[in-house]
Amino acid sequence: MKPKVIVYKKLEPVVLEYVQEACEVVYFEKIDENTAAAFYEELKNAEGLLGSGLKVDHELLEKAPHLKIVSNISVGYDNLDISELNRRGIMATNTPNVLNETVADTMIGLLLAAARRIPELDHYVKSGKWTSHLTPTHFGVDMHHKTLGIIGMGRIGAAIAKRAHFGFGMNILYHNRTRNEEVERTYMATHRTLEELCQEADFICLMVPLTPETKNLIGETEFALMKNTAIFVNGSRGATVDEEALVGALQNGQILAAGLDVFVEEPVRHDHPLLSMPNVVTLPHIGSATSETRIGMAQFAAENLVLGLQGKKPPALLTQDPSNR
Ligand code: DGY
Repeated sequence: MKPKVIVYKKLEPVVLEYVQEACEVVYFEKIDENTAAAFYEELKNAEGLLGSGLKVDHELLEKAPHLKIVSNISVGYDNLDISELNRRGIMATNTPNVLNETVADTMIGLLLAAARRIPELDHYVKSGKWTSHLTPTHFGVDMHHKTLGIIGMGRIGAAIAKRAHFGFGMNILYHNRTRNEEVERTYMATHRTLEELCQEADFICLMVPLTPETKNLIGETEFALMKNTAIFVNGSRGATVDEEALVGALQNGQILAAGLDVFVEEPVRHDHPLLSMPNVVTLPHIGSATSETRIGMAQFAAENLVLGLQGKKPPALLTQDPSNR
């Protein structure tokens, strides 16, 4: 008999077929109050979970006595209680590497969009306001040859540094728990304390995984240290930033602009103060969302799942260390 797995993210047919060859698949388009009862019923004899964002904690695991593996279709895994999974001998996997270049492209896009005010000026043109010559009130700021500070120098951070160094001639500063000699050598990046980075960088890009240590990592103190011309972008998780402090920093002119792919609450409330600020560029958490990369991530996650259920070691087996990004 094939092991039962619950899939809670829409998969491309080719990926779904691959999973179905090895497993009996039960699919949930979403798990919410309407589907929770049916989901928990299936969970009673499920051996695998495949999807993203589902909170897998003590409470859920109590209802999953046969579970062997949780395969996240994402690199981030702040939704998984890894120590609880380890304690129960349940495997957990993520999808590192396949998305590095795509997320790095998104972050460069956010930086440029904020610096050159692209969404704001797009709206200006389309709403018929472009009726005469532009004035300096419409100008942006240069990104090339400025200083970029990257907080969290994992594989995605390094892909951002590569683009910024070779493509934009930027000076790279970074802050990370451990020194990364390769980025220092290859992209001439310089390690800084968080305080120094906030003070010196023209552009700041936050790429840390969300852990208890990085929750609200950037708040009032850090925004106060930044230049009032600084542009701050977040491509990690919303909760790594104190959103109220960010609103305050933008309102008080402590920083110039922001670019956000992630929010504390997702989807973000339509009346959130950040959404009414012209100097904030927003995206709906699409860092890795290209067709090619999302298929690659789903296929990787499916392989992790199937190998785990076949008693083999999945290639992206997670341990407690959150730096596996
Ligand atoms: C990831 O893979 O963690 C991206 O943020 C998408 O969730």
